[in-house]
Amino acid sequence: MAYDKIWNNIHENMIWGKYPSEEVVRHFLGKYKHIPFKDRKKIKIIELGCGQSNNLWFLSREGFDTYGIEGSLEACKKGRDRLESENLDVNIYHGDFNDLSGFKKNYFDDVLDNVSLQHNRKSEIKNILLQAKNILKEDGKIFSVMVSDKTDGYKTGDFVEPGVYQNIQELWFKNRGLTCFSSFEDIIDYFQPFKDIVVDKKINIENGKTLEHYIIHN
Ligand SMILES: C[S@@+](CC[C@H](N)C(=O)[O-])C[C@H]1O[C@@H](n2cnc3c(N)ncnc32)[C@H](O)[C@@H]1O
Repeated sequence: MAYDKIWNNIHENMIWGKYPSEEVVRHFLGKYKHIPFKDRKKIKIIELGCGQSNNLWFLSREGFDTYGIEGSLEACKKGRDRLESENLDVNIYHGDFNDLSGFKKNYFDDVLDNVSLQHNRKSEIKNILLQAKNILKEDGKIFSVMVSDKTDGYKTGDFVEPGVYQNIQELWFKNRGLTCFSSFEDIIDYFQPFKDIVVDKKINIENGKTLEHYIIHN
């Protein structure tokens, strides 16, 4: 199994994150702060699993050349409508990011994954990242946020393979389909194709429950 169709129901029935994630804002504005707005169109960023385009909306407004691939047709439609309504460029592709062969090699400056790869199996994540490396320019960068195996609710639901569960009935991943909880070692393994990887961690405690993410970038 690759793309989980549960996401189409989720996007059909709710407005998913209208605004970009704080990590995405901080990372991209920090990294490219030396590039004036007028020159940002030269920087091509692709988001894997762009949902309803909350991050693309922000990056596009900030002047970047943005692209997205998303498995949910509903999310693609909502994202396209939103970008079009603000006269922003729309480059949203409907598809499974387990196959990135439709994108040109050595084309993008940055690949963004904000909690989307984590809804795939470990072996798939490795393969997707290998392909992501291929569509990046030689000195291209990666930014990814993935849930860690120190998160409460891990090991609930139905076991799929080590670290991967589905039909989770509690906390953040209730009704979110297949979810892969990664260890630090997993992260190092997935990101082997990339140079100078830095692994940060963000821990949220909500109502006494832990939600922990790895933030991976270079
Ligand atoms: C948790 S949402 C995150 C959406 C967005 N990145 C954000 O920051 O709000 C995960 C998204 O990834 C998409 N997704 C997960 N696996 C996918 C795959 N293999 N191919 C395409 N889209 C996928 C889902 O449809 C969903 O929209």
